[in-house]
Amino acid sequence: MEIVGIDVGFGFTKAYNGRNSVIFKSLIGDATDIQFRSILGDDASTSNLHITLEDKSYFLGSYAELQSNIREYTLDQEKLLEDFVKILAIAAAGLCTDTSEPINVISGLPVGYLKRDSKKFKEIIQGVHEITFHNKDGKDVTKRININKIHIIPQPIGSIFNLIFDDQGKIKDRGLATQKLGIVDIGFKTTDFSIFDHLQYIERGSCTMDTGISKCFSVIANKLRQESNITIELYRMFNFLESGMIKIRGKEYNISNLKKRVYNHAASAIASDLNRMWENDWDIDSIILSGGGSVELSEYLNPNIDGNVIPIGKNIDARFNNVQGYCKFGRYKWGYSKYISDSIEEPKANEEKSKEAALDKKDEAPNDQDDDAATAEKSSKGLSWLRRQS
Ligand SMILES: Nc1ncnc2c1ncn2[C@@H]1O[C@H](COP(=O)(O)OP(=O)(O)OP(=O)(O)O)[C@@H](O)[C@H]1O
Ligand SMILES: [Mg+2]
Repeated sequence: MEIVGIDVGFGFTKAYNGRNSVIFKSLIGDATDIQFRSILGDDASTSNLHITLEDKSYFLGSYAELQSNIREYTLDQEKLLEDFVKILAIAAAGLCTDTSEPINVISGLPVGYLKRDSKKFKEIIQGVHEITFHNKDGKDVTKRININKIHIIPQPIGSIFNLIFDDQGKIKDRGLATQKLGIVDIGFKTTDFSIFDHLQYIERGSCTMDTGISKCFSVIANKLRQESNITIELYRMFNFLESGMIKIRGKEYNISNLKKRVYNHAASAIASDLNRMWENDWDIDSIILSGGGSVELSEYLNPNIDGNVIPIGKNIDARFNNVQGYCKFGRYKWGYSKYISDSIEEPKANEEKSKEAALDKKDEAPNDQDDDAATAEKSSKGLSWLRRQS
């Protein structure tokens, strides 16, 4: 049984199955009839995303941005769930995996929506879906995505699992597993705060704030509108912020200083939320920054945070931290050996298997529970969902 992690974020949709990583903007557009295709340009698997799902065709991600007449993104949790999640999640799964056999999925929700939306999320994507990818060369590929089990966890916990587990879903960092950790996941719309103490999810110190990077983008976009009379959609801002220059109707605007001021302001708002919320959790051992936004804000954030902040690795794309952790946790939960017996990877030697079994025993929790609504309910009572299925 293959295990796929899927993270439908407000900014980017990500998927990971231990071998393939997929990322595209959470942007959906109408599928227009393109009469002339240039053979030049980007050939990455997500740059020409044209799909049909349930008899409707869409362009997704940067292809929608480039070619669609009507492009939609959302910063509303309900709309994301109702209108976006199925299309984005099934497309991501279809790009990530080649199997038409049943797969198990781990996904996440912002901590503030976990209780409310887990059941609905699960109903939306569970089951069998047929998705057609219309490739650039004119060939259509129809895939069957059969989602067997889906398990939903608080989004930022994915980043912790990514550090604690190895690729096979075994605990690799026992140091972190025995610490009290604070995690700050800065995404496009949300900033999620979470505390994880000796592998227990602590509801009290966990919450979702609307202080993602899109707040910064809208301040910058508003300033640019005042100067140029052009309204820039927020999802187009990524492209300009890195260089700090934007050209509007031939005129160049230097936004580096504005960006610094806005990022600095956003970082101090996030840091003061954190310092206030975790005021009584002064015994946190380490604070982990995660999510794409943390890369951009880290230089402004670190000086403002009271605590031991683990620096973000230079060579990693922090947007993938949650989804990689989801996949690793899935392998922990449902068993990596079960997964490899069905896949192309070689089974392990017996000696290693018995070592694993010993570890498993140690990590195993007393009961089992696979219902996500109950999961959400129980999350405050500890890590009842961090357990393997036999
Ligand atoms: N290479 C990159 N390209 C685009 N954005 C990047 C890149 N690296 C970091 N970022 C930042 O990553 C942010 C998106 O991060 P992430 O994918 O974690 O958000 P999300 O999960 O989609 O949003 P949310 O958690 O609010 O639902 C962008 O706002 C951008 O500032
Ligand atoms: Mg996110």
